[in-house]
Amino acid sequence: MRIAVIGTGYVGLVTGACLAGFGNRVTCVDVDEEKIRGLQEGTVPFYEPGLGDVILSNQRAGRLAFTTALPEAVRDARVCFITVGTPSDVDGSADLQYVLEVAEQIGAALEGPSVVVTKSTVPVGTADRVRHCVARALEARGAGIPFSVASNPEFLREGAAVADFLHPDRVVVGADAPEAEETLRELYSFLPQEKVLFMDIRSAEMTKYAANALLATKISFMNEMARICELVDADVEKVRLGIGSDGRIGYAFISPGCGYGGSCFPKDVRALRHTALQKGYSPRILQAVEDVNEAQKHVLFQKILRHFGGELGGRVLALWGLSFKPNTSDLREASSLVLIQDLLGAGASLRLHDPVALEEARRLLGNRPGLAFLTDHYEALEGADGLVLVTEWDLYKQPDFRLVGQKLREKAVFDGRNQYSGPELRRRGFAYYAIGRP
Ligand code: UDX
Repeated sequence: MRIAVIGTGYVGLVTGACLAGFGNRVTCVDVDEEKIRGLQEGTVPFYEPGLGDVILSNQRAGRLAFTTALPEAVRDARVCFITVGTPSDVDGSADLQYVLEVAEQIGAALEGPSVVVTKSTVPVGTADRVRHCVARALEARGAGIPFSVASNPEFLREGAAVADFLHPDRVVVGADAPEAEETLRELYSFLPQEKVLFMDIRSAEMTKYAANALLATKISFMNEMARICELVDADVEKVRLGIGSDGRIGYAFISPGCGYGGSCFPKDVRALRHTALQKGYSPRILQAVEDVNEAQKHVLFQKILRHFGGELGGRVLALWGLSFKPNTSDLREASSLVLIQDLLGAGASLRLHDPVALEEARRLLGNRPGLAFLTDHYEALEGADGLVLVTEWDLYKQPDFRLVGQKLREKAVFDGRNQYSGPELRRRGFAYYAIGRP
């Protein structure tokens, strides 16, 4: 099948590369010339395990190409995936400017029947607007080319994107026209039939928001439990195991921490809240999920401040882990950024380490006084008054605490992801703080 994928972010690149792996001829399009040039030479613009290999092998086999020329890619594509960004507007709503522009351009370029599929996370009703934009552009050329629209939201997780695409829990397809349903059924025929759920377009669009909002709710709920645990001298990690073992609750997404970040949860919770408000309903749970998360991003800072008696001037802290979660270089809405601002604002100096996101952090934060970027995580501890674990990369899971103790000027560990054993660290002479633990 000939496929065009417009937008080479996470969703677009993973979709395009993996679909090419199933024998389709895929062209990925982006307006960013530098990015496309890089991809043509085999450079993946972000860190995602396994993606580089899938891209390279399909490129070599002639099934995957990259271009900035949308019309050529779209012209004879049976499926056009729209995978461009939908950033948050100032009011929290999703900005659809890019999605709708691409829809117009598709209408202006199509030469044969096609299914136009939105894969970006878009508010309910967007597929109708896409349909309108494509139709208007076709009409303007006087071209009577048949097309249909569909919604195929993406559930992949950064850091596990390729595996998630190849082995999804489910694929959701919203389609109103039989030809759209048939085409997408054929495209996803590499999956067991029962994994592909067909429904109407609006329900498919809503499914994505409901999934992300529920996952974000689980996290905020557990962060709230952690706050209460601290007040009543209970250990949230024991509570987590106690409730996760109930099959109705499950272990997934109930780990307390420094708050959720990333390109999806914060943006999607805000966008869904905005949609509800627009329709005259004030969503109390979504509001609380967001409020708890915002507050959670400051919790570690408060613990650090308290430990040093409310005064951080002249203090040096080492931060391990900057990306919004392990196995990605992505810093979007990362809690580390909030913590860094808090600490710098209080007069502390910081020694930062991340296995992959260090360069991105340097780009975002700039070289300013009080910030040092270290490529070795033990070196980051040199002369610091405490270690702060922000993102639980595997590299940090079992550090040599003897060495940690030698490098630090003051033996304090602030564990934002409950990775370490309090009793063990205290035995070794560290002050130890975690989330929701006595
Ligand atoms: C998420 C969804 O999982 C995915 O289905 C959707 O398509 C996009 O959004 P992603 O943003 O890649 O994926 O990250 P995810 O692994 O879900 O983690 C999101 C955030 O939640 C991270 O900041 C992570 O640290 C935090 N988190 C996750 C917790 O704080 N506790 C948990 O128990 C799980």
